[in-house]
Formats: sequence, C-alpha cells, structure tokens
Amino acid sequence: MLRRSALALLVVASAAPALGQSYPSKPITMIVPFAAGGPTDITARIVGERMGKLAHAAPDGYTIGIVHLGTNVVNGIIYKNLNYDLLGDLVPVARLPSNPLLVVTSNQVPAKDMKELVAYLKANADKVSGGTAGMGSGSHIGVLAFHAGTGTSYQLVPYRGTGPAVQDLIANQIQIMIDQSSNSLPHVRAGKIRAYAVASKQRSAAAPDIPTTAEAGFPGIEVTIWQGLWAPKGTPADIVAKLNAAAVAALKDPEVRRKLEDLGQDMPTPEQMQPAAFDAFQRAEFAKWKPIIEKANVKVE
Ligand code: MLT
Repeated sequence: MLRRSALALLVVASAAPALGQSYPSKPITMIVPFAAGGPTDITARIVGERMGKLAHAAPDGYTIGIVHLGTNVVNGIIYKNLNYDLLGDLVPVARLPSNPLLVVTSNQVPAKDMKELVAYLKANADKVSGGTAGMGSGSHIGVLAFHAGTGTSYQLVPYRGTGPAVQDLIANQIQIMIDQSSNSLPHVRAGKIRAYAVASKQRSAAAPDIPTTAEAGFPGIEVTIWQGLWAPKGTPADIVAKLNAAAVAALKDPEVRRKLEDLGQDMPTPEQMQPAAFDAFQRAEFAKWKPIIEKANVKVE
C-alpha cells in the first residue's frame, strides 16, 4: 500500500552548518499511498512544495510517507497480518492538518436534507452504491460511522483513492461518499455534488452553510481524518528533527495555511506536530479506534 505513488522533493540546502552539507543532497521521496488528485495527494503537494524550501542535515532521510488515521491506525486493527508494525517500524515525523468528513451525494439523489437522504437510502439500499478508497481508508471509516449512526447500509465500491471516486460521484456512477473535505468541497462549491452534513462537532469555517451531523439530526457521527509524516525506523533523530522543523515552518506559512484551510482542513499546533506528541497521539488513537472497528466487525476480503 505504501509503495503506490511517490512525490519527489528536492530540498535546497539552508545555512544550518551544524549538520554539515550532506543532507539533503538528492531528492527526498514522499510516498503518497493513494491515487493522485485525492485529499492525501493534495496535502502532500501543498505542504511538500513548501517544505522543499527548508531542510539541511545529516544523511538518510530520503524516504518519508504522508499517511493518515486509516493507513496508520485502522489498517493495523483491520489487517491482522501486515508485514510491518505501524507503531514499531515507522518513526513519526510530524502531525499534519486534519480533514473533517463530508456526507456528499451525486446531484441525482432526490433528497434535500440528511433526514430525506437517510429515508431514501433505507428505501433504495439495493440501488445505491457508495465509493471508498478501500478497506481501512478514511472514506471507509466514514462509511462505518455513517452506517452505524443512521442504520443504513449500501453497496461499497473501492477505488485507488477518493480522487477518482469523486469523479464517478459527479457522473452519478456512484451515489454517495463520506469524503474528506479537501477532496469534496471544491466540487460542492461548483455545484457538481451535494453536501448534507459535516461529520464534526463544529461547522467547517470553510463551509459555514453545511450543518453538522448533529444539527442535521444524527448526533455522534463524527470522524476527522488526521494526516501525518512518517519515516522508516532507524532514520536518525536529527534528520527527523530537521524534517519536523520543515513541516512546522511549512504550516506557519500564511499561503500554505490559506490553501489548506480553504479546503476545510484543520491545522495542528506546532506542539501537536512534534514527533513525541504525535507518537503519543497515534497510540491513543489505536486505543480509541480498536473497540469501534472491532464492534463494526469489518470482514477483510
Ligand atoms: C485519498 O487520498 O484518496 C484518501 O486519503 C482516501 C481515503 O482515505 O479515503
């Protein structure tokens, strides 16, 4: 899963002589485990491009990955025989912004609000298909919460990422997604798909007209897909610190923040972005999601 696609980062050496001039002396590869054009790719490009302008340190930090709640927590709960340990074989580098999930449908779905949508889904369960980025992905976690919170169920269609999935939603090849804001919001604004609610306690500052799931009559359906950067185990601590500093600086950049917040993403604090804090957060998320995912009784095909 982690080897699907990559984004090459060329980092220009900065003036920090302490770590010598050797790192980085060649492009750093940022692995994006989902299809191009989707939410994870969007974050990788916006943050990665800005990071490219900062790093300078000792060697070996040439492969990093941008992943999220689904790939780095839920997958570890769903898939019993992963050939790597999500907590042991990867080094947390920096926590990145998080994406609240939106309940969105194609424009052909005859429902004007979430209550009508749920009634429609219950009456047409065999006619409706929902798109996800596969088992354990953010959009799949969203479906689990949506089904549990509404008592609905419908056919799931897996895609390589929600980038291609949302194109099929626009074309009404599928009818519903519980999708990361940064992927769906531009299409909602363009009137190509319809949004019913944001699966969060607060409305999104980027979309104040979209009610929360609680306001729409379905309290408790709240899922936010946090994202982060990881490096392989054994990556020297000073390189992790260097990459973290580049990510923290990138998220302090007003233009980077504007682009991500305009897509409905929520920013972590510099303290939350620190490797140790991120590691503790990931472990707490494992403890939180394990009973939820096990209760959902997800069958791995
Ligand atoms: C993507 O970039 O396609 C996503 O992160 C997919 C997902 O997890 O739903």
